[in-house]
Amino acid sequence: MKNYMAPMEGVTNWVYRNAYHDCFYPMDKYFTPFITAKPNKRLSSKEIKEVSPETNGSLPVIPQILTNNAEDFVKTAHIFRDEYGHREVNLNLGCPSGTVTAKGKGAGFLGEPEKLERFLDEIFEHTDMEISIKTRVGTDYEEDWDRLLEIYSRYPMKELIIHPRLLKDYYKGTPRYELFQKAQVSLKVPLGYNGDIFSVEAYQEMREKFPEADSFMYGRGVIARPYLLDAIKKDTWEGCGSSDSMESYKKKMRQFHDRLYHDYQGYLSGERNVLFRMKEVWSYMAPGFTNYTKYLKKIKKSQHFGDYEAAVMSLFGEQEITGA
Ligand SMILES: Cc1cc2nc3c(=O)[nH]c(=O)nc-3n(C[C@H](O)[C@H](O)[C@H](O)COP(=O)(O)O)c2cc1C
Repeated sequence: MKNYMAPMEGVTNWVYRNAYHDCFYPMDKYFTPFITAKPNKRLSSKEIKEVSPETNGSLPVIPQILTNNAEDFVKTAHIFRDEYGHREVNLNLGCPSGTVTAKGKGAGFLGEPEKLERFLDEIFEHTDMEISIKTRVGTDYEEDWDRLLEIYSRYPMKELIIHPRLLKDYYKGTPRYELFQKAQVSLKVPLGYNGDIFSVEAYQEMREKFPEADSFMYGRGVIARPYLLDAIKKDTWEGCGSSDSMESYKKKMRQFHDRLYHDYQGYLSGERNVLFRMKEVWSYMAPGFTNYTKYLKKIKKSQHFGDYEAAVMSLFGEQEITGA
C-alpha cells in the first residue's frame, strides 16, 4: 500500500511538501497542485519551483496537468520530462471549481466522454511518459461512471486515482464508496483511493472496504493532522523520533509549523504573503486542537508577524491536539 500526498492548490506546494517530508512519515509520491497547460507553454517561476529537482531535492514529485487539449498536454508533459527529468505526469479530471469546469476542464471534462476519449487516444499515442489520472466518478449521475469506466479500461495508465464523488457533490456528503468498488471489478490498472481519510479509524475502515487498493491519497486529513501517517504507521515505523504519544505529535507539529513559517519567509516577500499562506494551512489545522475557535480567529485577523506568532504560541501553549 503506497501513500500519496494530494495536490491542493495553495496548500501542498513545494515549500509545504519539503517541510512535511522532513518532519513526518514520508509519502511515496507528492502530486503538485495543477499546472495549466497552454499553447506555447513556458513555465512561470512559481511552476518551475513546483517541478524542479532544485527545489524538491530527491522527493518523488509528480507534476499534475490541467487541460482538455491533447497537444498542450503532451507539450507540457515533455517540458517536465526534458527540462526537469520527470517520467510520470498526472492528468487532473477532478477539479470541481466553476471557473475550471466552465471551460470543460478538470471534472468538467467528464461531461464530454467522446471528447475525453479522443483526448486520451492522442496523449497515450504521443508520449512515452507514464500517465496517471486523478478523477471524480462523473458530473451529475452515478450512471456517468459506467461510461467512464469503459473509457478508462482502454488505456495503459500508470494508475487511476479515484475520488468517488460526482462533480455536483463538490466536497459534500459521503464519498460514493460503491463506485470505487465497481472500478475494482472492471479495471485492471492499479487503483488509488482518495477521499475523507481524516483519522486512523477512517484509514482502517477504508483498508477494510478496499483491501485491493494500491494506494491511498491524503488531502485535508493530512493538512489538518500532519502526524496522521505517523499515527497510522506507528507500529511499523522507527523514523524521525517516532512515538505514539500525543505530546510527541504536538511537539512535531510545532516543529513542522516553525519550519514551514520560516521557509515561507525565505521564499515569499512581505508579511502579508507569508501570513496568507499560513492562514490557509491553519484553517485546516486549527480544528485539530481543543477549543480552537478563538485562536483561529486571532490567527486569521493577524496582520503582522508579531500578532500571528503570539496567537500561534498561545494555541500551542494552552490547548491540546485532539489526536488522529
Ligand atoms: C483547497 C483545495 C485545493 C485542491 N487543489 C487540487 C488540485 O490542484 N488538483 C487536484 O487534483 N485536486 C485538488 N484538490 C482535491 C484534493 O486533491 C482531494 O482530491 C480532495 O481534497 C479530496 O481528498 P481529501 O478528502 O483527502 O481531502 C483540492 C482540494 C482542496 C480542498
